[in-house]
Amino acid sequence: MSTSHNQLDTKSQAWSALFSEPMSELVQRYTASVFFDKRLWQADMQGSLAHAEMLAAQGIISQDDRAAIERGMAQIKSEIEAGSFDWKLELEDVHLNLEARLTQLIGDAGKRLHTGRSRNDQVATDIRLWLRDEIDLILGLLREVQGALVDVAGRNVDVILPGFTHLQVAQPVSFAHHLLAYVEMFARDEERLQDVRKRVNRLPLGSAALAGTTYPLDRERVARTLGMEGVCQNSLDAVSDRDFAIEFTAAASLIMVHVSRLSEELILWMSQNFAFIRIADRFTTGSSIMPQKKNPDVPELARGKTGRVVGHLMGLITLMKGQPLAYNKDNQEDKEPLFDTVDTVRDTLRIFAEMVGGQLNPATGTKEGGITVNPEAMRSAASKGYATATDLADYLVKKGLPFRDAHEVVAHAVKTAQDQGVDLAELPLATLQQFNPDIQQDVFEQALTLEASLNARNTLGGTAPAQVQAQLARHTQRLQAGQA
Ligand code: ARG
Repeated sequence: MSTSHNQLDTKSQAWSALFSEPMSELVQRYTASVFFDKRLWQADMQGSLAHAEMLAAQGIISQDDRAAIERGMAQIKSEIEAGSFDWKLELEDVHLNLEARLTQLIGDAGKRLHTGRSRNDQVATDIRLWLRDEIDLILGLLREVQGALVDVAGRNVDVILPGFTHLQVAQPVSFAHHLLAYVEMFARDEERLQDVRKRVNRLPLGSAALAGTTYPLDRERVARTLGMEGVCQNSLDAVSDRDFAIEFTAAASLIMVHVSRLSEELILWMSQNFAFIRIADRFTTGSSIMPQKKNPDVPELARGKTGRVVGHLMGLITLMKGQPLAYNKDNQEDKEPLFDTVDTVRDTLRIFAEMVGGQLNPATGTKEGGITVNPEAMRSAASKGYATATDLADYLVKKGLPFRDAHEVVAHAVKTAQDQGVDLAELPLATLQQFNPDIQQDVFEQALTLEASLNARNTLGGTAPAQVQAQLARHTQRLQAGQA
């Protein structure tokens, strides 16, 4: 690195003559962030322009300086977009890179941009602006995934599969009901992110290094220009805390956990032993040795990438815990985990929306290539494992038997059916009556069929088709209205 003090593009320019020796190359690389934080350039520029606008409005810099700053920034923007901007490691980060180039382009006006500002409030502002926009993208993707699940659910209200507890056949449920459980999860994720967004969307700028500044800044004005909902009210807190990033990563972790649970189900359902569904070939891969294989790589990877996002949450929260007020360089470590979290969640949701719901065919206006359902396999699985045993018990309760006694009666019936290798509905009426004489012919219709079992669960939130239809209508309406 050059130690010349009159060269605009060296770091010595940024902090003056105090330093008697240059950094080693290793230390430079160790401390620099430009190769990852250049991703923030648009937010950095947006913040700078809002700051300059306010400085000029307050008479702190001239309108000419402001115009020059805007001109210079426009030039830098086109350079970055064209890929011709010369990012310099020795300028450490995105902030100093942009400022140095600005000064190169417009001279003294460029040096006045940093009046009343520090990189500490600058970087905190940049991350918030960037994250706010990413949150909006993720919110849109969460809605797409919900829409895809609702679509598939809408076609499968009457498709019945075994519901499990402990992964043991428990009671029959509607496949739509099962999918709508995930819609509920993603709707909560959406709500959570909207809430996080409020705290992300507040302005640190104007806090300067840590204590505020001597210039008559109008912070509210900058907040308005940037579309922020408020101004951080304590300068020490504003430059230092990254709780908003931690909160976001926690919400992102929950999104991934929900995706991971769904992935696990898709993987199970696709296995030959279940054969409940198929997903399009483009989300699977073959095996290099076993010719018959079609592996569910995408859901498996999504399940795996959940660990990475949860890891980032641990990283960020640990990053914060030992920091005294105010800004510390530790915080530079917030970016890579945050970027990777955003990238992982975005890619995952985008893929899932398509894998579940399919791709729009512009010719037909319909979606194609989503999950293919095998209702027969689901039905036959639901018919095994005595999924309607509870219904038989409930039938006896309606005949006046206390529930605990009914439970015991049915356990005996299940044991007998198991010994004979048949389902409850396959036992002759005479056999069933040996367990309880009140059992009548109507038991088959009213309790032992899968449809009867579903229809009977007509409580709010239950799996009866009438309830599922009501939930479908609610979700469809909610998604159309743009509500979480
Ligand atoms: N690259 C730094 C970061 O990401 C910018 C702020 C640097 N501030 C400072 N006082 N060194 O946090």
